[in-house]
Amino acid sequence: MDERAIAILGGTGDQGLGLALRFAKAGRPVVIGSRKPERAVEAAEKVRAAVPGSDVVGLENADAAARAPIVILSVPFEHCAGTLKDIRARLASGQVLVSMAVPLATAVGDAATRMLGVWQGSCAELLAALAPEGVEVVSAFQNVSAHRLQALAEPVDCDVVVSGAQAARRRVMDLCGLVPGLRGVDGGPLANARIVEAITALLIGLNARYKVAEGLGIRLTGLPGA
Ligand SMILES: NC(=O)c1ccc[n+]([C@@H]2O[C@H](COP(=O)([O-])OP(=O)(O)OC[C@H]3O[C@@H](n4cnc5c(N)ncnc54)[C@H](OP(=O)(O)O)[C@@H]3O)[C@@H](O)[C@H]2O)c1
Repeated sequence: MDERAIAILGGTGDQGLGLALRFAKAGRPVVIGSRKPERAVEAAEKVRAAVPGSDVVGLENADAAARAPIVILSVPFEHCAGTLKDIRARLASGQVLVSMAVPLATAVGDAATRMLGVWQGSCAELLAALAPEGVEVVSAFQNVSAHRLQALAEPVDCDVVVSGAQAARRRVMDLCGLVPGLRGVDGGPLANARIVEAITALLIGLNARYKVAEGLGIRLTGLPGA
């Protein structure tokens, strides 16, 4: 396993592809995962075309998950648990699994501006309950817009509140620093993911009311050292 690699499962979609472009541009090896390897290969080709010379490959989700110390789950909330079950046997102690999904009510046919109740408290905590022993789940990137990630010429201009066990969340905060305009903010324990996930539903409503097609981000003011 390449210690610098980042795996993005569902990296064929808008958000995962945006992260893949940004991490590839920062010079990190990227492994894109998909249920269908050919879709992953196609997405990897798109990234290499946008970032010439980048080290990006496409694999089936479970193969991708086994290839990187940090694995970002970039599938809709309603498919997160199933995807984790599919790849679980290929995860190993010491890996970090990043939860980025938001339990939007669209999963049950309701509005994207509303949240579903999740028994564990958040998508991130649900994944933590299902992850193998020794795999740390960290919550991050829920408030970042896919459109802004994909606009490679511009900085993203968003804070990323990162929650989870301390050492693991530090590793994910470091990833944020690879992307111009993103700032990792120490979001404390994983239970805070429920607050961060809900902010996305608020942002979706704001995007509609203010007609911001590119998607709003968030900024925290007054952070020491910022
Ligand atoms: N879009 C945004 O601006 C944004 C912002 C913040 C957070 N997020 C979060 O980021 C995640 C990805 O967002 P997205 O907009 O990229 O989502 P998406 O395009 O709807 O889906 C991402 C990928 O999920 C996989 N997928 C679809 N159905 C699946 C199923 N039944 N089982 C397993 N995998 C399935 C697909 O990959 P394959 O078909 O290749 O397997 C698809 O390309 C979501 O959880 C979302 O809440 C998105």
